[in-house]
Amino acid sequence: MMNNFSFYCPTRVFFGRGESAKIAQEIPQNAKILLLYGGGSIKKNGVYDEIMGVLKGFEVAEFGGLEANPDFDTCLKARDYAKEIGANFLLAVGGGSVLDATKFIAQIYYEQKNEWDLLSLKRTATKALPIGAVMTLPATGSEMNCGGVISRRSTGEKRFFHNELVFPKFSVIDPTHSFTLPTRQIQNGIIDAFVHTIEQYATYDVNSPLQDSWAISVMKTLIDCGAKTIDEPENYEARANLCWAATCALNGWIACGVVEDWAVHMIGHELTAFYGLDHAKSLAVVLGARYKYSINSKREKLEKLGRELFGLSNLDGDLAQICIEKIVEFFEGLGVATHLEAYNIDANDAADKISARFKEHGAVFGENGEVTPSAVREILLASK
Ligand code: NZQ
Ligand code: ZN
Repeated sequence: MMNNFSFYCPTRVFFGRGESAKIAQEIPQNAKILLLYGGGSIKKNGVYDEIMGVLKGFEVAEFGGLEANPDFDTCLKARDYAKEIGANFLLAVGGGSVLDATKFIAQIYYEQKNEWDLLSLKRTATKALPIGAVMTLPATGSEMNCGGVISRRSTGEKRFFHNELVFPKFSVIDPTHSFTLPTRQIQNGIIDAFVHTIEQYATYDVNSPLQDSWAISVMKTLIDCGAKTIDEPENYEARANLCWAATCALNGWIACGVVEDWAVHMIGHELTAFYGLDHAKSLAVVLGARYKYSINSKREKLEKLGRELFGLSNLDGDLAQICIEKIVEFFEGLGVATHLEAYNIDANDAADKISARFKEHGAVFGENGEVTPSAVREILLASK
């Protein structure tokens, strides 16, 4: 039976070519805007100039240098700058890292100390600056959700937050803004969004045929339009569908009433924290072994996915097992390696460190709480 649920998303989405022109009407006239960005891609590809043009007449300051896997200490610096200039509206222009960092900065704007508590989930911020977003990388869904992930390089940690106060007031998703993405980031984005979808789909059945069909459609769109986008980066049709699929993969719709997993992400975050692996690559490494570990509880959903996404028939053999293999083949086919060895990470080292960290946090994940620290160890050893 479907679980009870509450759904809330106040973000206004402006989707399509040229839609950034509409953001001026969404920002209060007296706003002191702080525009936040990453390593400079927006200055090279024209997105910065386009947005500054739209914001003519507003008071705008900027803060650049937010890293991929945004760093806690950089967020503190951005917060200090925002306070110094008296910013009252934050505009994130970039990929998931810039959006996540901006959401975090919006919350710590009103915090004087112990900002890490918001990430160790000791408490939740009760105030935040309003934010808007211009998303340049289809992957995280951060443009239409209220979550984010912050890394702390000084301690080798990576932690997430959720806070409804930081839903963007608006998000621009203009597919042409991502035309300049390097292939590596397109591949990463496809895998990240695919894994978001399957983390919410492949658990046990609660009789939710609508959410299941949405999830499978999102995954199909990511596979089809992802491949087309890699071949033809300026194909608007393919890019637009890829962008929207990535947004819908993590905007809450497919999670309504179903049981979620997220163990692949939790283990993946630790791989990034300890070894600096790209987020999507950490997921590609963990998924196969994590799904094989729980194949029995996931069997029904995996068999359905095997039939509906990969065209398998009952005559093919163990559909759940083959479905997992097809997913791993899909990642490899995109050019992303799915074993720790390919990234020069020692499986024993990873298993020791990450299972110890889960133990320290008392963390248990998976749809049945089956991903205990010792399970994490087994999964990482099998990802070698
Ligand atoms: O920093 P710049 O110069 O902008 O370059 C970025 C960065 O180097 C570049 N890029 C972005 N848009 C571009 C572009 N280059 C050329 N043209 C463009 N249009 O791409 C690189 C990667 O950017 P990043 O923002 O780090 O990638 P992504 O969007 O994949 O975000 C990854 C972060 O999001 C978190 C991850 O953990 C990671 O920290 N996640 C956030 C989630 C959420 N908020 O809901 C959920 C996810 O599971 C994920 O954990
Ligand atoms: Zn992700």
